[in-house]
Amino acid sequence: MDSIASFLTNMADEAEAKPGREAGATAATERKPRGAAGFKSAEQGFPLMPVGEAFDMGHAPDGTPLLDPRIFDAPEFYRNPYPYYKIMRDHYPVYFDKLHNCYYVTRYDDITACYFDDEGFNTIPKGSSSGVLGNTQLELSGVEHRRRRNLYGQHLVGKSLDNRLHAIQSIAEEMIDDFANLDESIKQDRNGVRTIDVGRAFANEFPIRVVCDVLGFPKESRKDFYYWYNSMMSGLGGSETHHQGLEARQHLEEYVGELVEERRKNPTYLYDANGKPVSKDVISKLCESQVDGDYLSTEEITSNIALVVGGGGETTRGAILNMGYLLLQHPDQFKAVMEDDGLWDSAFHETLRHSTPIGGQPRHNSFDIELHGVKVPAGSLVNMVDFSANHDERIFKDPETFNIFRPDLYSGKLLRSGYRKEGRCSHMAFGVGPHLCPGAWISHQEAVIGSKILWHKLKNPRINVEKMPKDIDGASLAPIGLISVKELWIDYDLN
Ligand code: HEM
Repeated sequence: MDSIASFLTNMADEAEAKPGREAGATAATERKPRGAAGFKSAEQGFPLMPVGEAFDMGHAPDGTPLLDPRIFDAPEFYRNPYPYYKIMRDHYPVYFDKLHNCYYVTRYDDITACYFDDEGFNTIPKGSSSGVLGNTQLELSGVEHRRRRNLYGQHLVGKSLDNRLHAIQSIAEEMIDDFANLDESIKQDRNGVRTIDVGRAFANEFPIRVVCDVLGFPKESRKDFYYWYNSMMSGLGGSETHHQGLEARQHLEEYVGELVEERRKNPTYLYDANGKPVSKDVISKLCESQVDGDYLSTEEITSNIALVVGGGGETTRGAILNMGYLLLQHPDQFKAVMEDDGLWDSAFHETLRHSTPIGGQPRHNSFDIELHGVKVPAGSLVNMVDFSANHDERIFKDPETFNIFRPDLYSGKLLRSGYRKEGRCSHMAFGVGPHLCPGAWISHQEAVIGSKILWHKLKNPRINVEKMPKDIDGASLAPIGLISVKELWIDYDLN
């Protein structure tokens, strides 16, 4: 704590050394905050606060804490968002962010109601995936969305998936058994201890291999596929990588074009553990699917593939790494799941509640509305903050605590987001309503099966603190914050 205090003092000194404010500062910034330094601009940054504490931006005459929207661009918010969401939930359940010209809805009940209202809140602005993923169901609403929603969903749930669990298992085993052959940049062996980055060794690629398998891509295409996936994902991120993303999509489409031509004539199948065909793979299924009497074009099939891979890669990777990171920091809970396989389901859901890989979804309201006294004109950008709903103390007691035994979280087998019964509620990591993630069940299986095999195969695993990013005291492990763990360095015993 001492070093956190001295860090804040340093930040305060730095801010004092550069007094003055930018023109256009909001009321929040005009007050000199208590206990920490004032700040000049968003570029200069807000001081990083101890986890759980918000930077004091001043108060209104009635004592209401003020919130400066520039905080949303600050590293402090990315690392320590939850105290700011709490201010919003308690004082501004519908917050108008003048700077970014959008609204935030932060309470669990309000978000659930908005998500279920498909007519009142339509989906994200068209073209938001910037051409990289293509025209996907994610960006459609109403009838247009419903027509495309169920083209391949049955492969990702139920019996078809149960019959394919053996494939998920063998992909995990194959990857973990190959750890000995990993590159030196990912793995080092010293004095009977192996140090590896679980991200690059396993979690980054494992979900892509699983999805590649269920889609029906030949095994030989894995490497290309992983490259296309990575390029498309970074192509969504910014202008520098956008071009690379578009190019990757073009390559994927050319590759898919040839496969589609072949599969339209000769569909291929997925098999159960005994070699019995379970069903056609997703690509073959898409080849025979029709919307409004027309077969899907290659472009439409590519967009579906890109969405399935885009939706299922980064998210499941984040879930596996966050779960490992959180469990290893709570040794009693780690021991409990290792002794009782039945607890992995709860560990998965509690991870998604505590630190979900997807923070929320943007919507546009179709009509003028008024919510909690705030008027929201039709066509506004309204962000549903799932991160905040998952930490709403009206629903989850002591929400910042990671506890796989918490009695208020529903973690039944078939997850129904927005579900609420007998004092238990589901988390919101998979969204709610018509766009509820169709990959929820397969990602659950991937994360649970993959983690179970991984952590059972490694002897005495523990976090290699030295190699992991540190928090502001320079010693303790960095919190997960808004972004899933990128690397997870661990040590385990070789004998
Ligand atoms: C932990 C893992 C995952 C998380 C947290 C997650 C989260 C989400 C969320 C929040 C949505 C809703 C978007 C909205 O409301 O606009 C969504 C939609 C979607 N997800 Fe996932 N997802 C995960 C894994 C997967 C997997 C493994 C797949 C595919 C195999 C997948 C495919 C999709 C698709 C296709 C959609 C669009 C659904 C629609 O618009 O109707 N996701 N996901």
